[in-house]
Amino acid sequence: MNYFEMLLGILLFLISFVVFWYIYEDKNGLPTNWAFVGMLPAVLKNIHRFHPFCIEIMQKTNLTFEFKGPWFGNMNILGTLDPANVHYVFTQNFTNYPKGQKFRDNFDYLGDGIFNADFEDWEYHRNIILNYVRHPNFHQFFVKKTWDKLKNGLIPVFDHAYKHDIQFDLQHMFSRFVFDVECSIFMDHDPKTLSMDLPKTPVNDSLNEISEAVFYRHVLPGFIWKFQRWVCIGQEKKFKKAKKVLDDFIYDCIFNLKKDYKCVKMEENEVSVDLLALYMKEKKGDKFVRDAILTIFLAGRDGIIITLSWLFYLLSINPQVIVKIKKELDNANPINWEDHNEVNSKLVYLHASIYETLRLYSPIAFEAKNPLKQDILPSGHHVGPNTQIIFNLYAMGRMKSIWGDDCNDFKPERWISEKGVFRYQPSYKFFVFNAGPRTCMGREMALTQIKLVAATIIQNYVIAPVEGQHIVPDSNNILLVMKNGFKVKIYPSLQ
Ligand code: HEM
Repeated sequence: MNYFEMLLGILLFLISFVVFWYIYEDKNGLPTNWAFVGMLPAVLKNIHRFHPFCIEIMQKTNLTFEFKGPWFGNMNILGTLDPANVHYVFTQNFTNYPKGQKFRDNFDYLGDGIFNADFEDWEYHRNIILNYVRHPNFHQFFVKKTWDKLKNGLIPVFDHAYKHDIQFDLQHMFSRFVFDVECSIFMDHDPKTLSMDLPKTPVNDSLNEISEAVFYRHVLPGFIWKFQRWVCIGQEKKFKKAKKVLDDFIYDCIFNLKKDYKCVKMEENEVSVDLLALYMKEKKGDKFVRDAILTIFLAGRDGIIITLSWLFYLLSINPQVIVKIKKELDNANPINWEDHNEVNSKLVYLHASIYETLRLYSPIAFEAKNPLKQDILPSGHHVGPNTQIIFNLYAMGRMKSIWGDDCNDFKPERWISEKGVFRYQPSYKFFVFNAGPRTCMGREMALTQIKLVAATIIQNYVIAPVEGQHIVPDSNNILLVMKNGFKVKIYPSLQ
């Protein structure tokens, strides 16, 4: 395409965009595919309510919808929530569905870490991380770190808030808590962001800005956000600043870790398996270590903050569930938190409440795949190397055809059999931890941490939401954070 054609294209695009913006109307509630601009006006008109918009479309289209992007925008997107497609793409024909270059472009700040890796690079990371999370001391190690932060961080801050009648944003408090714990686990450094004086948290703030910018990278044609990045405006300007804050922090941590090379010890006086040591052995340079450690750190951080926040929101509007969890905890005491099997068998109802929270509020809202070769999905849709397949995990938990007519209700009971045993669902249906060979590697760690924190709070405090709040997910974020947070007051539990 020469310059003249390109300019003409951009002009036609802008004119059509303005025209269709004003005359835009849905046909049967589905976006119309206009000349030049495709369905982009519909997306941008609904951007402020992107999740409900996706749910409406998916309900009307039997779970799969082809989104037509603007002419020359290179946006062939197939949105699907069909469990048969998920099973096919993530497990049955896994080798044809790498993350792909577009995914790596969107998540460029993660560099060469496991999230962006495909094929041999991915296998290489997966083996290293498996060695780490399967180390016999790992479970004990992260339980100890979580306990320490509960005792010396969250509990004193909650007590202080109660004594001084302070209301606070629970999501924000969980961000501080989890940030400190995950830094201690993966970087042997406690930044102590959770303390009475609530210091500024530039790294946490920068991570939120990054995930917002990444959302826009998914919905705008590549040439628009890449142009924004080039001239440094809009979301991309914020992204650049935020990435610098993040990089400074992570390189500092790596530098300090390398300096005394004691690394993250699993046991006192024993330099045993630790993540940094595992990666440093490879001698691939600081940038590589940064990418690898940052990716694991973020994988651990986001899911736990988001699940805890939505869990306590759902409990606040379903007090009958708290009563049942309390009863279960009373019967289960004492619990050996270092014994993963004991925790699972004693706390079935808490486990079910967490799964139900994850079903309704999947922390990672989207997944994306890019086929290597032409293929036909079980739903009959044709895909090829230019198609990006997007899975909206939030919408998937709210489909009547997948979860039944009561899909919008919070019912931990749906996860428990008549005999009181936890009822697992296939991962292509409950897709929150991903499915197939790329299944989340931190599921057990996440579930234990969430249970430990939830049990401590439920047994000792009453969380009372401040009235008049509108609690909704942020529709413009790849993570399912609460848009306006969750303001609460805290009281000691009467036991
Ligand atoms: C509730 C908490 C969590 C949720 C909902 C969750 C969910 C997910 C999802 C959806 C993926 C796939 C991402 C993708 O391929 O784009 C994933 C991958 C991954 N998760 Fe988690 N995760 C959680 C906690 C953790 C924790 C605590 C760790 C810490 C070790 C962790 C480590 C990983 C790793 C290493 C991968 C990459 C797996 C691969 O690509 O082979 N996750 N997780």
